[in-house]
Amino acid sequence: MVAPMKPVVDAAAPAAAGPEGSRRHGGAAARGAASQRTALGTWLTPSAIAKATGGELLVRGRSADGVTTDSRQDCRRKVFVALKGEHHDGHDHVAAALQQGACGVVVDRAPDRVPGMPGLAGAFVVRVADTGEALLRLGQEHRRRHRAKVVGITGSCGKTTTKEWLGGVLARAMPTVRSPGSYNNRVGVPLTLFSIRPETRAAVVEIGTSAPGEIGTLTAIARPDIAIVTCVAAAHLQGLGSVAGVAREKSLLPAGLGDDGLCILNGDDVQCREMAAVTRARVQFVRIDHAADWFATDVQFHAFGTSFRLQGERTVTLPRLGTHNVYNALFVLAAAAELGVPEDQALQSLSDVPPAARRLEPKCAAGITVFDDTYNMNPASARAGVLAIAGTPGPGRRVVVFGEMLELGADSTALHRTLGAETHRAGIDALCVVGAGARPIADGALAAGMPAGAVMCLDGIGDAQGWLLQQLRAGDRVLCKASRRVGLDRLVDGLLHALGARTGEPNPAAGAH
Ligand SMILES: Nc1ncnc2c1ncn2[C@@H]1O[C@H](COP(=O)(O)OP(=O)(O)OP(=O)(O)O)[C@@H](O)[C@H]1O
Ligand SMILES: [Mg+2]
Repeated sequence: MVAPMKPVVDAAAPAAAGPEGSRRHGGAAARGAASQRTALGTWLTPSAIAKATGGELLVRGRSADGVTTDSRQDCRRKVFVALKGEHHDGHDHVAAALQQGACGVVVDRAPDRVPGMPGLAGAFVVRVADTGEALLRLGQEHRRRHRAKVVGITGSCGKTTTKEWLGGVLARAMPTVRSPGSYNNRVGVPLTLFSIRPETRAAVVEIGTSAPGEIGTLTAIARPDIAIVTCVAAAHLQGLGSVAGVAREKSLLPAGLGDDGLCILNGDDVQCREMAAVTRARVQFVRIDHAADWFATDVQFHAFGTSFRLQGERTVTLPRLGTHNVYNALFVLAAAAELGVPEDQALQSLSDVPPAARRLEPKCAAGITVFDDTYNMNPASARAGVLAIAGTPGPGRRVVVFGEMLELGADSTALHRTLGAETHRAGIDALCVVGAGARPIADGALAAGMPAGAVMCLDGIGDAQGWLLQQLRAGDRVLCKASRRVGLDRLVDGLLHALGARTGEPNPAAGAH
């Protein structure tokens, strides 16, 4: 609880301006995103901040023109919101933020209990009960004050891919902002909303969850005009309990749309389809091989891309592999059309979109193609990756390297085994599993009839690299995939480096992120 009101006092001196060179560069892309330049116009007066957050203005000061949560970034003229996480307390960095030029702070305690604060005069201070909640309220207020159309994207897989593609397509047609990286949580969503400026016409916002109710909260903050739900699958089961729990959670996005919104759903995913019943908005379905508002037929894979017939009329070639990416493209076309982008223009832009990093990203060395899908893994995205490389035409073997899928709760072993069986049934030539947690994938493949000689279980990334280097020949295709924390990206980078060294090619992993 916030303590009773204290008298508001005027700040004694202007905020200390941080020297340009004093910015520290922590290096992580995520941190860079957190401090993106957020010129917010003029609404961030200390009293407006107190009002939006339900806090107390303890010390007056000059208005801010941006919001930051990271004292290592450019804080000049920004309000620093001191977030408390599992491992960090932003209150320990208030003094640093002020030294870097922050002109005010949002904190959850009296200034004399913030380290270094009393000595730094000039900044305004707003005290709130919960700084995380305050950041959400500021994001909500900022969104309310701007007329940009907001597209919210959720689903168990494909959020970032669809967000990146839609962001790219819209940006060519109108001033557009989009979530940096996978900034999709209670911090990332408001930070994305702060990037909206008066001239912004579209904001593409990724909305994720790890606990029940989070999507409802974030939907209320972002108030999307358009919602996309890509799919419902076994992911984050530790937080959400079951696939039914995932569906319930994802449905909070469609449920939060207004009457005049548009809800774009995967019509081939039963749980997604049922979300049509919970929204007041218009609904459009995206389907493959069935007529729908947006549909594709004749899906065909090429070495690095996929073609399909759109709406039964025109053939479209996408420079990305996989049926799952056809769905993603259809979501993009549906949302872009709603925002007035002509179909020809949207298709042209889609044909140029870069791959989202380490999402089935093809990398070649020594005539071997490594599909780097090491960004993350759950059963649905693993199935999508297997089907994609199984479907690529041409000679050469199709090899799959899997690490463990994390956060799958009680069904984890069964889900790993099922994936093994699916991998065999897809016609994969060889399966390598890395680490004890991934063993049930091999067990499932063997039980489904995959020959023992085609299944290899290895303990670590070094062993896997050695085995692959012995096995692989020009023309082969390799899918590498695991949950992010397994770190299979190191295998991809090491393998490409070693393959490149075979032929003297430059390392295609260099500069990868
Ligand atoms: N529509 C889809 N269906 C199934 N898998 C997909 C789909 N789109 C992308 N994928 C695969 O899912 C994985 C993650 O992709 P992406 O980062 O786009 O998803 P995300 O939902 O943003 O994930 P996260 O929850 O980790 O932020 C990649 O392996 C990608 O190839
Ligand atoms: Mg993401």
